[in-house]
This record gives sequence, C-alpha cells and structure tokens, in this order.
Amino acid sequence: MDVMTAVLTRRSEHILHAPAPDDAEFTYLLKGASLAPDHGRLRPWRWILLRGDERAGLGLGIAAETGADAAETERLRTTYQRAPLSAALVFVPRDPHPVPEWEQLAAASCVAHSLMLLLHARDYGSIWRTGRLATSSGVGEFLGLRGPERLLGMLDIGTPDATAGRRRRVPDDVSESITHFEELRKSEGDG
Ligand SMILES: Cc1cc2nc3c(=O)[nH]c(=O)nc-3n(C[C@H](O)[C@H](O)[C@H](O)COP(=O)(O)O)c2cc1C
Repeated sequence: MDVMTAVLTRRSEHILHAPAPDDAEFTYLLKGASLAPDHGRLRPWRWILLRGDERAGLGLGIAAETGADAAETERLRTTYQRAPLSAALVFVPRDPHPVPEWEQLAAASCVAHSLMLLLHARDYGSIWRTGRLATSSGVGEFLGLRGPERLLGMLDIGTPDATAGRRRRVPDDVSESITHFEELRKSEGDG
C-alpha cells in the first residue's frame, strides 16, 4: 500500500477482533514508527502492551475513582478489554531539556500516527482512545506511571470488523487554511 492510499483509507476502528500483532510484530512496527520526526531524537515516549483481562484494572481504577456501584464496576471492568491488544502510549517528557515539552508531545503524537498507518498497511485496525482513561490517576497508578509521565491514551489494536460499514473520510477543502505569503503582502500593500 503506498503512503497516500494508507492515509486516505485509514479509519478509526471501533470494533476490533483477533488477530492483533504479537509482541514481535508490534516491536517491528514501532521500530518503523519511531523514525517519525523527533526534535533532538529524545524518544519521549514508551508503550505498555496489555492483552485480555490484564486490562481489568483500567476499568476498576476508574470505577473506584468515580464511586461506581457494582453493576457499573462490572461494566467498566470489561469496557477496556474489547480489542485484542491495547497499547498504552506514555509520554515521557525529557526535562529539563532545550527542546520544549510541546515539541516532545508533538513527537509522541507523530509516532502514534505513523504506527496507526503502518498497522493499517498490514490490514490491522486501530483507534486512539482517551476519555477518562487519559485523566484517571487510578489508571496511571495501575500502569505504574512514574514522575512526570502522562498517559496520552490507549491505542486499541486488532483486525477490523469485516461487516462494519466503513466510509472513507472525504478530505476537507484545505485551501482556506493555506495562505500564500505573496498575496498577504499584496493585500497589505493595497490597504
Ligand atoms: C488524541 C486523540 C484522542 C482520541 N480519543 C478518542 C476517544 O476517546 N474515543 C474515540 O472514539 N475516538 C477517539 N479518537 C479518534 C478520533 O475520534 C478520530 O480519529 C476522528 O473521529 C476521525 O476519524 P478517523 O480516525 O476514522 O478518520 C481520538 C483521536 C486522537 C488523535
């Protein structure tokens, strides 16, 4: 699959079945994704791979934090086990460092997108999930986040549901988001 086709056809997949990449294939794909732009080559991220009921603690952490009743706790326990593989993206800011934190965050995001494209090119599907997961201190504790580390979300990964209706996103007209500097200067000159 060429890069433009991958970009045009990737969608967030909400329903994911087995198989997902095994640890070796995930590592191989992440190695590729790690070549995304990264100011200072700081690699300000790490991933935690969770499969099956290893993820029960994610929902239970949120349940404890929100004072969920028994039924809601049970629902939350299984909520984060829907895909065969969940890869937690942990932001590891290299601080203090001349490369500001926002640039490091941008680098981590670039890796995630590259990884999603590489997964898609191999017929895997993925979705980046945040919501309560990304803000829960219980989840952070469950995952063993250290110091300034921050959970940027979970990449749920697996094989897309073959029966799911999936429409290509039609790219927006982006021309209004492009300014040609020459025109800017001209309009300033006219004014
Ligand atoms: C940082 C980030 C967080 C996201 N969090 C969620 C989420 O919590 N739940 C969800 O359903 N989708 C989430 N998404 C996926 C977006 O909703 C999705 O990319 C967007 O709707 C465009 O759809 P597409 O990826 O199929 O093109 C997230 C995407 C990003 C980049």
